[in-house]
Amino acid sequence: MAEGKSRLVVVSNRVGPLSDEGKAGGLAVGLADALRRRGGVWFGWSGETSDQGTFREARTEEHGHTSLVTIDLTEEDVNGFYLGYANRSLWPLLHYRLDIAEFDRDSDRAYRSVNQRFAARLAPLLREDDVVWVHDYHFFYLGSELRQCGFKGRIGFFLHIPFCPPEMFTALPASHDVVRSMLAYDVVGFQTEADRRNFVAFCVQELGGEEIDGGLVQVSDRRVRVGTFPIGIDADGFAEFAASAEAGEHEDMVRDISHGRHQIVGVDRLDYSKGILERFRGFERLLEDYPENRGNVQFLQVAPLSRSELEAYVDLRADLEKLAGNLNGRFATLDWTPIQIMTRGFTRRALAGIYRAARVCMVTPLRDGMNLVAKEYVAAQDPSDPGVLILSRFAGAAAELRDALIVNPYSADDVARALQRALNMPQAERVQRWQSMRRTVFSLTAEHWCDSFLALLEASGTGSASDFDTARI
Ligand code: ADP
Ligand code: F6P
Repeated sequence: MAEGKSRLVVVSNRVGPLSDEGKAGGLAVGLADALRRRGGVWFGWSGETSDQGTFREARTEEHGHTSLVTIDLTEEDVNGFYLGYANRSLWPLLHYRLDIAEFDRDSDRAYRSVNQRFAARLAPLLREDDVVWVHDYHFFYLGSELRQCGFKGRIGFFLHIPFCPPEMFTALPASHDVVRSMLAYDVVGFQTEADRRNFVAFCVQELGGEEIDGGLVQVSDRRVRVGTFPIGIDADGFAEFAASAEAGEHEDMVRDISHGRHQIVGVDRLDYSKGILERFRGFERLLEDYPENRGNVQFLQVAPLSRSELEAYVDLRADLEKLAGNLNGRFATLDWTPIQIMTRGFTRRALAGIYRAARVCMVTPLRDGMNLVAKEYVAAQDPSDPGVLILSRFAGAAAELRDALIVNPYSADDVARALQRALNMPQAERVQRWQSMRRTVFSLTAEHWCDSFLALLEASGTGSASDFDTARI
């Protein structure tokens, strides 16, 4: 633990790994960087199911000055809390996909119950002066549950994914309960100003609250700090990965399979929020409208499988394979396959090498909290010959990386035009755009994100929400 500071207790659904094990997910990557530096406790789900679930003895793993403490879920919890409420209701809704969000009473109950049981297991482990930092949409109720258990210290909450406008969020039957319970936190953080605005608008329009100068929201007699904290990466560390032997091997492999052709890369969990289908259509439009690229560019999509128990994800995989198959069938020649999809995980060193070999990286989500892949791509580039980042206007990162080529991912024409421009961009312009993005990525790092959130939380005063009671709000 850093000297003179309170102990940090981080809570998130997924815990670890602290080392590079090639697992995909932006939250784990951001928090591992922060905890490696500051130390503390990381509490969450073990990723395992057992009959006893949350009641089974916690497992603790010590890694230097960080303890990873995890508890199980039952099968029923996984179905109702994780697959049900978190990923069938909240995930699509918060990503503006009301059309596929599903709401049902049983998963709502399971979600509340898991939040309550996690709080009950965590509370006895807490010391009075701990600073608790809760992460993401799995644990909206955790703060108010910890207050119910009597914890009076500081608790902050950070949402890694977007927060949709109140006109949409009110479709969630428990929308008022969710936002009221979020007021138990001392600081609530979002990735972008748009997400923050949406949350504040909900408090004002739906709960009769008001926004007070200086980033405070007041609902009844409760005041909460609401801020924007764009997450970053460990940029120096990632640049070192890109210079490693493992990265070099992967860079060479990608260059070998490209046979001198320009390589375009996409790296995303296989998720409908990432806009991979639309990206493939944009690539297809490039080959249709700018035929000089046929035989001269290759597209590698790395898409590790994610939440494969859910129908929307199974359907997406099938649609992607079909689209890529049709596209390859239509354009491939004996010595050229336009699109390749790989669903395996890579170590971060290997990924850094893949990024470095790519002339273009496409990060074109339909809606995304931040998107760390965009920042990793920038950090991994060769300064004298960097590639071009194509970034969706709907990625949180677009608010910061203004020198990427910003596109509307829904427009195949727009995406194709950006691809054509990226593939033909003179070196001087590539270097100039990259230098500007590099400054952002290397200054707004994971460390900066963590320090600025915790500075505000630590300054917010102990016990400000100790008598919190949602019924009064
Ligand atoms: P999300 O959190 O929605 O998955 P992000 O872009 O913010 O999206 O973060 C994804 C993280 O997962 C990045 O750090 C990226 O390097 C990592 N990642 C993506 N694909 C792979 C893969 N195939 N193997 C290992 N890590 C991956
Ligand atoms: O960023 C959103 C997020 O849910 C993170 O919590 C995690 O990094 C990633 O998506 C992977 O999701 P899951 O934990 O459902 O596999």
